[in-house]
Amino acid sequence: MPEHTATALAHPNIAFVKYWGNQDNVLRLPSNASLSMNLDGLETVTRVAFSAALKEDELLIDGERRLGVPAQRVSAHLDLIRQRAGLDLKARVESRNNFPMGAGIASSASAFAALTLAGAAAAGLTLEERELSALARLGSGSACRSVPAGFVEWQTGASYQVGPLSEACDDSFAFTIAPPDHWALTDVIAVVRAAPKAVSSSNGHALAHTSPFHAAQVATSAERLQRCRRALFAHDFAALAEVMEADSNIMHAVTMTSEPPLFYWEPATLNILKAVPAWRAGGLPVGYTVDAGPNVHCLCPAEAAPEVARRLREELGVSQLLTAAPGSGARLLEA
Ligand code: PMV
Repeated sequence: MPEHTATALAHPNIAFVKYWGNQDNVLRLPSNASLSMNLDGLETVTRVAFSAALKEDELLIDGERRLGVPAQRVSAHLDLIRQRAGLDLKARVESRNNFPMGAGIASSASAFAALTLAGAAAAGLTLEERELSALARLGSGSACRSVPAGFVEWQTGASYQVGPLSEACDDSFAFTIAPPDHWALTDVIAVVRAAPKAVSSSNGHALAHTSPFHAAQVATSAERLQRCRRALFAHDFAALAEVMEADSNIMHAVTMTSEPPLFYWEPATLNILKAVPAWRAGGLPVGYTVDAGPNVHCLCPAEAAPEVARRLREELGVSQLLTAAPGSGARLLEA
């Protein structure tokens, strides 16, 4: 194994109680705490190789060389890792996803979680899970939730740590509240449009405070988080579905009323948002949540997943579905 090389795998995650907006956009300290589930079967695998032969960082995603903003974000993240490790080498980063990027399936979460684990190991750093989570957060906020396993909470973080950015605010990290086998839920993801979204979540977060509803989202989110946590621990699916749908709608009310407004939904998204609660009222346990994109995550107990998938396909004409069970945390494949 060549020195300064490591490969890591991470799953994306879906938030049942979301954050939208940061207290600090550079440190990516979220406006409120959030709760999510890692998505097994969907994965990003990233290899980082630091080398004296390189003059600049190189990024390849799914085999294609990437320049511009994605490459700059990766380099900025590598800078944090290099700074922490005292390493002065450029890196080649090769990343592969087995699901569509930039379409509300949180590819930036799995991307920065995998990059953090692989980059830190390749740089010779030995970090604890909470440190890896906090470091991943600096690349993309929700990436901190893809580091620990299963059902995860991300706390806002209380204090600023004086020192380099790479070690800042280490008390804003995510941790497991229940392992993947706690509850056999399935996320049936209705892929309404797989193209990358027009406005990235990073740019969206910066607009959150321009919505008059953002303060209300933040003020009421701790109560939803508590209800969500209780529903999760009690395996109370109806309560989980209710709080998850309310939280998603509140977040989208904020995006739609920011300046400029951001409309992540497509007409097909709304069709699903209308059908899912009606299916639940008719006895099928299923609830929805939508991230910063048009695709709808339909959560249900595993045994209901075939019927949820059937109805999405046959009644609503959704042709592309992905399914995911609760996933593990990010892990090194080789170091
Ligand atoms: O942390 P980011 O930039 O990937 O943004 C995540 C934003 C949402 O997915 C909409 C909400 C969330 O908590 O995951």
